[in-house]
Amino acid sequence: MSGHGDPIPMTSTACDPLRGTADVPGDKSISHRSLILGAMCVGETTITGLLEGQDVLDTAKAMRAFGAQVTDHGGGKWSVHGVGVGGFTEPDGVIDCGNSGTGVRLIMGAMATQPITATFSGDASLNGRPMARVTDPLALFGCQAVGRSGGRLPMTLVGAREPVPVRYTVPVPSAQVKSAVLLAGLNAPGQTVVIEKEATRDHTERMLLGFGAEVSVVETAEGREITLTGQPELNAQHIEVPRDPSSAAFPVCAALVVPGSDVLVPGIGLNPTRAGLFTTLREMGADLTYENERVEGGEPVADLRARFSPDMKGIEVPPARAASMIDEYPVLSVVAAYASGQTVMRGVRELRVKESDRIDAMAKGLRANGIDVDEGEDWWTVTGAGHGNVAGGGLCASQLDHRIAMSFLILGMAANAPVRVDDGGPIATSFPIFEPLMTALGAWVSRDG
Ligand code: S3P
Repeated sequence: MSGHGDPIPMTSTACDPLRGTADVPGDKSISHRSLILGAMCVGETTITGLLEGQDVLDTAKAMRAFGAQVTDHGGGKWSVHGVGVGGFTEPDGVIDCGNSGTGVRLIMGAMATQPITATFSGDASLNGRPMARVTDPLALFGCQAVGRSGGRLPMTLVGAREPVPVRYTVPVPSAQVKSAVLLAGLNAPGQTVVIEKEATRDHTERMLLGFGAEVSVVETAEGREITLTGQPELNAQHIEVPRDPSSAAFPVCAALVVPGSDVLVPGIGLNPTRAGLFTTLREMGADLTYENERVEGGEPVADLRARFSPDMKGIEVPPARAASMIDEYPVLSVVAAYASGQTVMRGVRELRVKESDRIDAMAKGLRANGIDVDEGEDWWTVTGAGHGNVAGGGLCASQLDHRIAMSFLILGMAANAPVRVDDGGPIATSFPIFEPLMTALGAWVSRDG
């Protein structure tokens, strides 16, 4: 079931070559952060290219509930009149973050050091996900949290009245936890320090600098140490959101597996903390090139060209790369099914606590389509059938997870029999134009019934 309505069963069928240009939407991580930081400064932040997926719309609604004036001007142009650091008002009702772990965790961080109380909830997927990873460090600032067993939503946070700065080593590789601590540190006096053993996406650090906060990053023996000076005056900004590499992954991977394809995916953010999938695909022998490389808004950007690649080989993905492609393992496993040999993915325990248990969801669906998958708690392997040999014909459960639904629809685009997904509804959380975009390239994706 999708979180916001009846299930939308979908099918994809082997198609003619995919051709053309795929203009994918704005980056989800950067979109959430633009709205939240915009709400935490005084003055008008303007945003272009905002992802208008349900996850981000839920964050926009939440920022309004905390007192910011958030306006949709149409065509991806938005503005936020912020309330200043420490200026959130107490929301009247429950903050419903829908399917979005990023939304709820970042917003919890942002309110944790303000003298207000807020209750958070989400859909069945989000209400099952672990929140203690965020509320534990927020407690160090003086914020109290009461939720359901296992630290799950719905949950009420009582923000610290007299917050103290913290020094915190993030125990799991998580940009959401790191960002929650940094956002909480904004309204604490003195210096808040976050240490991450493995580098995760650094959009929060980059954006805080852009808004005028004092942030320094040093590499130490313990890892990447980020120091933020609290209670800054944040200055309203203009933000151009780059296109999302995690969404680009879908048309790119489709082009690699559908015979004869040649697809251009322009203007993709290639921040090294996000681009691990593309490096991995090239190591597998994908015909994937970067054209027109440039820097836009402080982020490296390129046009990606992906062409059908019949000779890809399975590889062992370096575990150190996991954080830079954590959302892309599902679609990588689809490409691995079309490659020859085994693709080995280790050090990926975090996949088990995403919108779904992504190792379990992909393993079940790939097996239902004739692909061999082996798995352990923090690893999995996919044995490629090779181009032309993916059976298909299976029904896959999307488990309320947009990336699972899209991955299986890509699997069907070159399989010997159509691949069905029980619910494509969650796709709207991150890539609302997935279906028309893929159809315009030549894919045969349809809604059943
Ligand atoms: C995100 C961080 C990652 C990622 C998610 C977006 C972010 O989650 O999976 O889709 O914007 O900070 P974790 O921090 O849980 O790894």
